[in-house]
Amino acid sequence: MEVKENHLLKEYNTFKIEVKAKYFVEVNDIDELKNILLDKKYSSQKKMILGGGSNILFTQDFDGLIIKINLLGINIFSQDEHNVTIKAGAGENWHDFVLYCIYNNFSGLENLSLIPGTVGASPIQNIGAYGVEIKDVFVQLEALDISTGNIRIFDYGECDFSYRGSIFKYELKNKYIIVSVTYKLKKNPVFNVSYGAIRDTLDSMGITELSAKYISDAVISIRSSKLPDPKILGNAGSFFKNPEVSQEHFIRLKAQYPNIVSYKTNTSNIKIPAGWLIEALGWKGKTFDNYGVHQYQALVIVNYGGSNGSDIKNLANDIIKSIFDKFEINLEIEVNII
Ligand code: FAD
Ligand code: EPU
Repeated sequence: MEVKENHLLKEYNTFKIEVKAKYFVEVNDIDELKNILLDKKYSSQKKMILGGGSNILFTQDFDGLIIKINLLGINIFSQDEHNVTIKAGAGENWHDFVLYCIYNNFSGLENLSLIPGTVGASPIQNIGAYGVEIKDVFVQLEALDISTGNIRIFDYGECDFSYRGSIFKYELKNKYIIVSVTYKLKKNPVFNVSYGAIRDTLDSMGITELSAKYISDAVISIRSSKLPDPKILGNAGSFFKNPEVSQEHFIRLKAQYPNIVSYKTNTSNIKIPAGWLIEALGWKGKTFDNYGVHQYQALVIVNYGGSNGSDIKNLANDIIKSIFDKFEINLEIEVNII
């Protein structure tokens, strides 16, 4: 385990922001993790946990220790004829884990194909896509308490999952390091094709009998057509969360903007795609020097190369202000700003 100094982070964040960490270490097992936390040289340093860096915007050099989690391993905890309980190390690549489950006919994660990042980050913002969220298959996670070095198990009820949120993104931010996550998957699948685009894509692929693999292929195809590939264009997926408004607010908006897109929620609130709001104000495809709003997905801010995080953050704030001024809606940032 080598602690590097003044380490360049460009290859460790999908926005490809060129900042440095004062100290940077990659840990491969729990002992290494405990050792680095106990090391007196770093005990007073500010710390940050890093997975795949796909939900982060660095706006400055990191003046502390970054710990990149590489803990691997996939183990079947228990299984019967219907279900399998499977535990994965926090450093496992998320999409590879999804493909592993599909290959083994364990279903439940197929709608979450091609989301970048790691298993360990999957509960942090309760990753979601195409009608499924991680909370739907979550059993428990193991996390190391940064202040004591003790391992604690969090079950479903203790994680406070919400839309793009959990206790680890809010109250317990930077207090625990997730080391493994356990999911319950199905051997006799119940597929979720409620998200319209999946059905249409399966139809266009000529699929009549559903399988986890076909759904995964459809999701990959939809995602590839809309979202920029971070290997080619720096980005962190949706920059903002989709907002909710009250029914009264929505009625006012609908009167003014008859084409506004909306979704029902579990409450009386109405969800509005932030992409629609941002596009309606003309931001989509707008480019400023080397960064801008993606041309096909207004919810995604992109770095065309060499841009800095502060400029991107300022652009995000300009978008937030314009949305508030026009629609009286407060857009919330999804990405973790560092
Ligand atoms: P990082 O970016 O490394 O970290 C994110 C946060 O979690 C940070 O605060 C970090 O400190 C913390 N963290 C990471 N690992 C741990 C750990 N082991 N223990 C404690 N804290 C930790 N998200 C969705 O929900 N749905 C999508 O459809 C989606 N699509 C995306 C598409 C693209 C092209 C991109 C670039 C991103 C997308 N995202 C999406 C966002 C992102 O992929 C997810 O949030 C992912 O879970 C982040 O994983 P990561 O390992 O890269 O986390
Ligand atoms: N839209 C526009 N213009 C745009 C983009 C979207 O008008 O430029 C409108 C369209 O009406 C479209 C609707 O928004 O039908 C929804 O768009 P899309 O299906 O692309 O989904 P999204 O709401 O933009 C959300 C998630 C994604 C997730 C997809 C699929 C959030 C913040 N984003 O995006 O998650 O992959 O749905 O489920 O909830 C992420 O969190 O990083 C992410 C990519």
